[in-house]
Amino acid sequence: MTNFAYVATSLDGFIATPDDGLDWLSDVPNPDQSDFGFAEFMATIDAVVMGRRTFEKVLTFETWPYTKPVCVLSRTLRRPPDSPAGAVTLARGAPRRIVADLARRGYENLYVDGGRTIQGFLREDLIDELIITRMPVVLGRGIPLFGPLEHVLRFEHRRTEVYHDALVKSFYRRAR
Ligand SMILES: NC(=O)c1ccc[n+]([C@@H]2O[C@H](COP(=O)([O-])OP(=O)(O)OC[C@H]3O[C@@H](n4cnc5c(N)ncnc54)[C@H](OP(=O)(O)O)[C@@H]3O)[C@@H](O)[C@H]2O)c1
Repeated sequence: MTNFAYVATSLDGFIATPDDGLDWLSDVPNPDQSDFGFAEFMATIDAVVMGRRTFEKVLTFETWPYTKPVCVLSRTLRRPPDSPAGAVTLARGAPRRIVADLARRGYENLYVDGGRTIQGFLREDLIDELIITRMPVVLGRGIPLFGPLEHVLRFEHRRTEVYHDALVKSFYRRAR
């Protein structure tokens, strides 16, 4: 069982501008339309667990990016939201319980997405792999990837890939 966070950040650690803007993610020219390893990563996971705010942003994309079942976390949504890929499931509560419930349904390797959602998982030490792609931009303000933690969490660097001499994608594994 592995929980992954797979995110792109600015150099100063933001995952979106304050108004949820993601245009800065496509500032680097990408003539061959590379997905920078996203499909390969998607093949390794069983389900996506994302915060309600990330889900709402993804609904504005032209294409649905996921090939695996999606579980949206929310305390405000009353029923599972629809998505272009069909119904998604809805969950709430302590991340540890959410992970256990999904494992019982056969979803063991999870892609955890959304800033506050990842922070909630980190607070319970439930992120095993951090895959962070740093974009060459300082946003100055925005939605942060990380937040306060009760304990220091150490990670081991596994490898780093550089795309187009610009995007720096680093793979870290929780040192337990
Ligand atoms: N750069 C990237 O790679 C990347 C990746 C993902 C997202 N983003 C961007 O990040 C922004 C969204 O991140 P965010 O930090 O604002 O929010 P988020 O984590 O996507 O969503 C936060 C919401 O998720 C729900 N939630 C989280 N944990 C929960 C739990 N344990 N139980 C029940 N509900 C839970 C709550 O929804 P309710 O308020 O409904 O209770 C909470 O308000 C968007 O702009 C998105 O586009 C960027």
